[in-house]
Amino acid sequence: MTTPGTLLSQVLAQLQASPEPRMREVMTSLVRHLHEFAAEVRLTDREWAAAVGFLTETGRLPERDEFILLSDTLGLSMLVDLLGGHAAEGATETTVLGPFYVPDSPRRGNGTSTAERPSGDPAFVSGRVLGTDGTSITGAEVDVWQNGADMMYAVQDKTMPPGNLRGLFTTDDEGRFSFLGVRPVDYPVPVDGPVGRLLEATGRHPWRAAHLHAIVRADGYHPVTTHLFDDESRYLDSDVVFGVKPSLIKHFTPHEPGQPDRPAGIGPAERWYSLDHDFVLVRAT
Ligand code: BEZ
Ligand code: FE
Repeated sequence: MTTPGTLLSQVLAQLQASPEPRMREVMTSLVRHLHEFAAEVRLTDREWAAAVGFLTETGRLPERDEFILLSDTLGLSMLVDLLGGHAAEGATETTVLGPFYVPDSPRRGNGTSTAERPSGDPAFVSGRVLGTDGTSITGAEVDVWQNGADMMYAVQDKTMPPGNLRGLFTTDDEGRFSFLGVRPVDYPVPVDGPVGRLLEATGRHPWRAAHLHAIVRADGYHPVTTHLFDDESRYLDSDVVFGVKPSLIKHFTPHEPGQPDRPAGIGPAERWYSLDHDFVLVRAT
């Protein structure tokens, strides 16, 4: 007689034929956990059909990668990040890439603005790119993207220029970079698809803690995909994708309007913020 246990044994036996050892290891574990999960919750036909419908719909959303969002909101992306991180002492910690990164950011000069439209309170972000031994890295790339006061990334908002609030900056001969972005705001992940319905069904909010994104790359070093979070965000403890790490929480220093030493691009009547932050990379050996 077939039982859950004998069925699992049959599937695992067939997987022994996998020619590639890592494939065999991963699939064996995946199938074992899937069977144990279904048996533990006594999954019904109807629930299984609903789950297949959910996954099918998740793969069909053409305008964004809903599967990344699903992985992010289940904490799986952060788990993979934690398992694979180059967590050397003193190095900048990594966090999720998210679904809104677009390659080929516009190259911009240090000190210039990423805002091609008025997009929120100006925030001047500056710092250095360093190795873990403290050496400054010249020619490192700091690839930044963020959303603005309307809570939309340029890739989500077709009325915005595609380069808005994106930029690729190169460190100078002291390893320094700087740009004028905007102070980030809390924002919800997209909830108009299957992941939004799942969040609602499980009583979860859809909010991300306010942040800027950066990928920092330099020859001879491991690239780092990270965020800088605003320490005044309401969602630092409940970020919907579990992406907050304490070392990435930063203070945006406020500056009153009208001071003569404000960075270029900030009007005399504007309140603005500044953030000084060094990115620290691990040498690739
Ligand atoms: C983001 O920060 O852009 C993001 C990350 C994960 C899911 C949705 C959005
Ligand atoms: Fe984001």
